[in-house]
Amino acid sequence: MITPDELRSKYLDFFRTKDHAVISGKSLIPENDPTVLFTTAGMHPLVPYLLGEPHPAGKRLVDYQKCVRTGDIDEVGDPAHLTCFEMLGNWSLGDYFKKESIAYSWEFLTSKDWLALDPRKLSVTVFKGDQNAPRDDESAFHWKSTGVPEDRIAYLPASDNWWAAGPSGPCGPDTEIFYWVAEGMPPAGSNKETDPANWMEIWNNVFMQFNRIDEKTLVKLPAQNVDTGMGLERTITVLNGKTSVYQTEIFQPIIAAIEFVSHYAYGSDQAKDTSVRIIADHIRAATFIIGDPKGVSPSNVGAGYVVRRLLRRAVRHGRKLGIEGSFLSGPAMIVIERFGGAYPELVENRERVLTELAREEAQFLETLQKGEHEFEKMLPNLLRNPQKIMSGRLAFKLYDTYGFPIELTDELAGENGMTVNRAEFDEAFKKHQELSRAGAGETFKGGLADHSEQTTRYHTATHLLHKALRMVLGDHVAQKGSNITTERLRFDFSHHSAMTAEEVARVQAIVNEQIARDLEVTMDVMPLEDAKAAGAMALFGEKYESVVKVYTIGDFSKEVCGGPHVDRIGSLGKFVIQKEQSSSAGVRRIRAVLE
Ligand code: SER
Repeated sequence: MITPDELRSKYLDFFRTKDHAVISGKSLIPENDPTVLFTTAGMHPLVPYLLGEPHPAGKRLVDYQKCVRTGDIDEVGDPAHLTCFEMLGNWSLGDYFKKESIAYSWEFLTSKDWLALDPRKLSVTVFKGDQNAPRDDESAFHWKSTGVPEDRIAYLPASDNWWAAGPSGPCGPDTEIFYWVAEGMPPAGSNKETDPANWMEIWNNVFMQFNRIDEKTLVKLPAQNVDTGMGLERTITVLNGKTSVYQTEIFQPIIAAIEFVSHYAYGSDQAKDTSVRIIADHIRAATFIIGDPKGVSPSNVGAGYVVRRLLRRAVRHGRKLGIEGSFLSGPAMIVIERFGGAYPELVENRERVLTELAREEAQFLETLQKGEHEFEKMLPNLLRNPQKIMSGRLAFKLYDTYGFPIELTDELAGENGMTVNRAEFDEAFKKHQELSRAGAGETFKGGLADHSEQTTRYHTATHLLHKALRMVLGDHVAQKGSNITTERLRFDFSHHSAMTAEEVARVQAIVNEQIARDLEVTMDVMPLEDAKAAGAMALFGEKYESVVKVYTIGDFSKEVCGGPHVDRIGSLGKFVIQKEQSSSAGVRRIRAVLE
């Protein structure tokens, strides 16, 4: 049996022996990337470096990274899907390429000194080729040279073997590694193409050679990179001879905590088991998100809305298990205890996590009660309907006004011998979604880690603003968040009260004076301690490497930052603060544009 802690250490140790620098994983909330709500892959914080920025730790890197993907939140509950997972990753930034990457993966998986998996139970997939790029014969050649038989190699299309983190950004063909999860040995000819259900993906090696600018344009990156991602939960599953991530010791203690509060024994009823898995996944994800150094609280927008959805869904499934009161904190404490070693921020932010969970849970239970009460008020009228159909409009009203979930309206209607007109509900819901999507549209514009000229300009302007705020308001001003699109910057910072009109005007004037001086922007790589000693601003609570990049703007500002930035600030144009408002307790938010 191997534990998650052991697997993380082995992975880092193995790549250390291959001259990789161990870097720390980053926050779940991406900095300066307006295009996604969460860090969705191990490579995500490395996008600038994959695009060509030099990394201060060198060209061979390894880490473990917590990730959140909510795209298939509705699939969670089956044996394999998770919203929150860990990725073990190694990177070559313009250093080694396919041959070494494949050899390293094979050695780590099969060598007796490392994971010692049976090579006969491994198979791979390789990109089949299309109009954009040719078949990846090079990878196939290296697999064969390593000893993988031809019939264990499946050639698949871009939908399987082309990896891109978003509609734009670094991308390329990948080769994926699978482990046999059925009984006995895989028969001859079995691979991911012929026998998809019996092979579980454990590792993905992406050969990032291209940058997607837009739908039609794919350009070559300055260097050939390798980006690999090994799913920690899935690898633990196969290493320990299990068939579901929920059977592993990653989830078993969380499931035990749910059994304890629900008095339900996992394994006795299929539908209830699904609920247990959903609760386990969602509490784990919410604990990681709220417990992040840039923790997000449940709310009605952006990442906060995702947390809210996760928790409310967990509460609803708790009710399916017969839990009436609050129960989220018990399993959350287990998550903190089990993962606090690898992610100390969970321990540091324990109180915040437990408080937010309790608050959200209480609020939602109240919502449920109100909704049920409203339903009861509607009931006499509803029962008069001879067809026993509740209109979708009414069900939507319960949802929209009281936040009452449609599944519960369905249930209550069912208990009273009625059905809900779901088509009508769905139509009203769709209209509502379109409206909210219009609001969220900005989040998804531009593709992953947009490094267009315009966002780079806003990035540099953010440094100027940060410094000017400290000059006008004081040194207590610290960056709490930054969000940049091609049209504006948004900057959150700690400050106890609203800024006066005069303060806003002074900050704006200082930034514009510096722009008029057309200062040069320079970058240096140095140990973090030296950067701090040189007075560089660094984000409190952010995890940095021991060696960092420092961007200096003339004699005006010095900040630890991944970049990129403009070369001279004269090109920024006119800086205008459009809004200064409250963001949350003790945090102000500025929205500004470059004209
Ligand atoms: N970026 C790839 C993935 O997420 C490999 O790390 O699968």
